[in-house]
Amino acid sequence: MRPRACHAPQRLRTAAFAAVCALLPMAPALAQEPAVQQAQGRAVYRKWCAPCHDPGVTHPGTHALTVKYQGVKSGVLLEWTDLPAAMVKVLVRHGISVMPQFRKTEISDADLDALAAFLSRNTR
Ligand code: HEC
Repeated sequence: MRPRACHAPQRLRTAAFAAVCALLPMAPALAQEPAVQQAQGRAVYRKWCAPCHDPGVTHPGTHALTVKYQGVKSGVLLEWTDLPAAMVKVLVRHGISVMPQFRKTEISDADLDALAAFLSRNTR
């Protein structure tokens, strides 16, 4: 049996190491800072969700959730502590009851990621 060529893996490792070194300075730009993402998420919320979900029963989402949860938890979405990011994404893309679904041309995937991170910020 011929011994396996052991140079290729070594070369690969060297190339991978070089690639990682080259990308390191870009890391902060690639991984979005939590604070930046929160700000983006808040902006998306203000534009698309606040009209229905801001505090006050004149907002239809807040009204509906106040009735739905009967004081078990707040009707105000921003006060929830049990709203996983994945749940936000499903509800936004599919809608629920009279809440409409939102298209990717309205809320992009990146905006939805930020929105979900913002709304789940108090959820452990
Ligand atoms: C046109 C009004 C309207 C808009 C805009 C709206 N919602 Fe809603 N939303 C509602 C209503 C009404 C309900 C309650 C539905 C029900 O009865 O279960 C609701 C429920 C929810 C719930 C809770 C679901 C549950 O029953 O526990 C979440 C989470 C939610 N909305 C997130 C969002 C997000 C995020 C946005 C912005 C992208 C948004 N909504 C925009 C009206 C709206």
